[in-house]
Amino acid sequence: MTAGGGLWITLEGGDGAGKTTQADLLESSLRDAGRTVLRTREPGGSEVGQLVRDIVLHHRGDIAPRAEALLYAADRAHHVATVVRPALARGEVVIQDRYLDSSVAYQGAGRVLDADEIRNLSLWATEGALPDLTVLLDLDPQVARMRLDAAEKPFDRLEAEKLEFHLRVRSAFLSLAEAEPARFLVLNAAASASEIAADIRARVASVSGDR
Ligand code: TYD
Repeated sequence: MTAGGGLWITLEGGDGAGKTTQADLLESSLRDAGRTVLRTREPGGSEVGQLVRDIVLHHRGDIAPRAEALLYAADRAHHVATVVRPALARGEVVIQDRYLDSSVAYQGAGRVLDADEIRNLSLWATEGALPDLTVLLDLDPQVARMRLDAAEKPFDRLEAEKLEFHLRVRSAFLSLAEAEPARFLVLNAAASASEIAADIRARVASVSGDR
């Protein structure tokens, strides 16, 4: 979707797959190469988005599935319009933790909402904005759980959901990647951080070179 020399990269995967580590490594390699990098995330990549993040991740009690999907879409609409598009127009590289594929995988895994409906809701919200590259860090949810336990981070509402839910999330991500091989790079998140980082750098170089 990019105009003006910008590059938009999103990172996807289950909780504990190592997205933050890889975003850090990619950011420093791009900065070393002289690029201006904007790091951002969903939910919560804008001031309005922080309020939405607080609701979806920390609200105690259930949120109706359609309301939850709309909250993520509202965060996304504002984030793309006020943060992502302006940065791309300035020619920056945007490295973003999670985007619409997370909505399809997570809200779809609740089994109430249809994957196409969720995707179309986000596409409406963002006027059809899609990243140049989406890196999927694929990991067995049981391994991810062990990593999160080791980090001793408090679980948020979604992290506490059952294993089956995370298995459905994983297979949804893999189906999305299969459907759009040109946009996705799927990597085994059990590999070493430096190997994964090298694979990401290689793909980023080829995506940048194509344009
Ligand atoms: P994230 O910020 O990656 O959490 P953490 O910092 O704890 O790793 O994502 C927060 C949670 O939000 C994560 O469990 C996935 C969920 N999520 C959705 O369910 N739908 C969405 O559209 C997005 C962007 C995130």
